[in-house]
Amino acid sequence: MDEYVVIGNPIAHSKSPDIHARFAAQTGQSMSYERLLVPLHGFKAAVQVFQRRGGRGANITVPFKLEAHALADQLTERARLAGAVNTFKFEEGCILGDNTDGAGLVTDIMVNAGQALQGRRILLLGAGGASRGALLPLLQQRPAELVVVNRTASRAEELATQFAAYGPVRSTTFAGLEGAFDVIVNATSASLSDDLPPLPPSVYGSETLAYDMMYGRGPTVFMQSAQQHGAHVRDGLGMLVEQAAEAFQWWRGVRPATAEVFASLRQQLS
Ligand code: ATR
Repeated sequence: MDEYVVIGNPIAHSKSPDIHARFAAQTGQSMSYERLLVPLHGFKAAVQVFQRRGGRGANITVPFKLEAHALADQLTERARLAGAVNTFKFEEGCILGDNTDGAGLVTDIMVNAGQALQGRRILLLGAGGASRGALLPLLQQRPAELVVVNRTASRAEELATQFAAYGPVRSTTFAGLEGAFDVIVNATSASLSDDLPPLPPSVYGSETLAYDMMYGRGPTVFMQSAQQHGAHVRDGLGMLVEQAAEAFQWWRGVRPATAEVFASLRQQLS
């Protein structure tokens, strides 16, 4: 049976084994998918052991995504630009690295939330790894503009400069934000500490989709605030499922349906 793992530290909370088991059952794929807890300094050794015993692929989560990027023998363009890898495929002794997070976000926004991105104004909050991973997939949808804003303004400037060749991206400060956006994506980790990025109310219109990459039992503080300002809101549970579907397709060559898996995870959270 083809073996896959999700590698992280901690890893007990990961929903990926559940998601991939459902995908495998649905598509009739013969595969196993387990959690692999790896010591903080043991990532490379653990990957090599798994690869040598015939493992076919892996997902990589916190805190190893940057190390996974460094370890891969070959990278997809989106993984190279993201500077982080969340999916490995082992092929003929080679480690191929991809990053499916940004594609998962875009699919969830466009397909599941039904929100077009082409020609739209997008605001991206944050300039860390989550933001970096989302930039290329968002720009590939040809928005009218993509504005990056971050607590530490210089990091947003660096990101905008790095991605300028891929589409209409610029950075600004929270005070410099003007006009309403069609889509606002919170890629900061502020929601983890119940913090709110200091957005002016003018960023919200009645058609705005406010998307938080985080998810949990209830709406995040960002979603609550956006809702109070009249926006539609969505959390990152769909992104989690869609990034998994993207990885599954890369490994197995078949695209799983995601709606049922999403509904079941949502039920588990409620
Ligand atoms: P990740 O890989 O999850 O993106 P990261 O690289 O540590 O993690 O980046 C976290 C992002 O959340 C950064 O953009 C950070 O802003 P700074 O660059 O100024 O540190 C942002 N962030 C974290 N806590 C925040 C808060 N309380 N308010 C606003 N932004 C916050």
